[in-house]
Amino acid sequence: MDEVWEAQADWWQARFTRGVDAEYTQQILPLLAERLAGAEVVVDVGCGEGQVARPAAAAGAVVVGVDGSAAQLAEAARRGGGVRYVRGSATGVPLRDAAADAVVLCLVVEHVGDLGALVDEVARVVRPGGTALVVMNHPLLHSPDSCWVDDWGPDGEAECYWRVGPYLPEAVLDEEVDPGVVVRFWHRPLSAYVNAFSARDLLVAEMVEPSPPEDFQVVLSDPAMAATIPRLLLLRLTKV
Ligand SMILES: C[S@@+](CC[C@H](N)C(=O)[O-])C[C@H]1O[C@@H](n2cnc3c(N)ncnc32)[C@H](O)[C@@H]1O
Repeated sequence: MDEVWEAQADWWQARFTRGVDAEYTQQILPLLAERLAGAEVVVDVGCGEGQVARPAAAAGAVVVGVDGSAAQLAEAARRGGGVRYVRGSATGVPLRDAAADAVVLCLVVEHVGDLGALVDEVARVVRPGGTALVVMNHPLLHSPDSCWVDDWGPDGEAECYWRVGPYLPEAVLDEEVDPGVVVRFWHRPLSAYVNAFSARDLLVAEMVEPSPPEDFQVVLSDPAMAATIPRLLLLRLTKV
């Protein structure tokens, strides 16, 4: 596991939890809660400080949160909420086979180098007929070097567009996401994910590409256009 989650857990918690991040409050948490309704046993792999796990427990599920970072789990325990936390790896989840009705991976797959081992574990822990919910940065639209471009023509006309960087090659990126905070991301094309899950009998039942929250659109010069470029992708997979 990337050391940043140990060394910079407080950075993650300050920037993305307790309601300060619109993507979580307006999109990720409601999308997941809706799809976890009715699940009796939920395993949240790479649970962080527990912002996905706590609402699932509040809704009545038995929830186990697994994370490799002691600093994240210490904060998760402080924040409480009835979740059972276990320190462990996403590629060696310390739970028995078919233990879960639903497994969640929320902004985790792009931080794990060994996709095959990760998917093996998800497929092992989800019971037949159960669900895996995977939220990730959209692999096509947030491939390396993808970004918003503002071009001003000679006549003063704005040409604003989203540039897509190299999409097909897998790549490892150490990205400085904030001054002094370097996070490792593995870029993979969407087919790498879908095919890895399908090969373990986890088939796509639903795919969600939400338009970014308004807060993310207005900072760009063409908010209407920005509304058409999703930042996130959710896959709901069913174990056959
Ligand atoms: C971007 S944070 C997301 C946290 C949480 N899922 C959420 O949405 O709030 C990624 C989390 O994955 C954990 N993580 C990354 N790689 C891991 C691995 N190989 N095994 C276990 N946890 C891992 C990190 O410690 C971190 O807490």
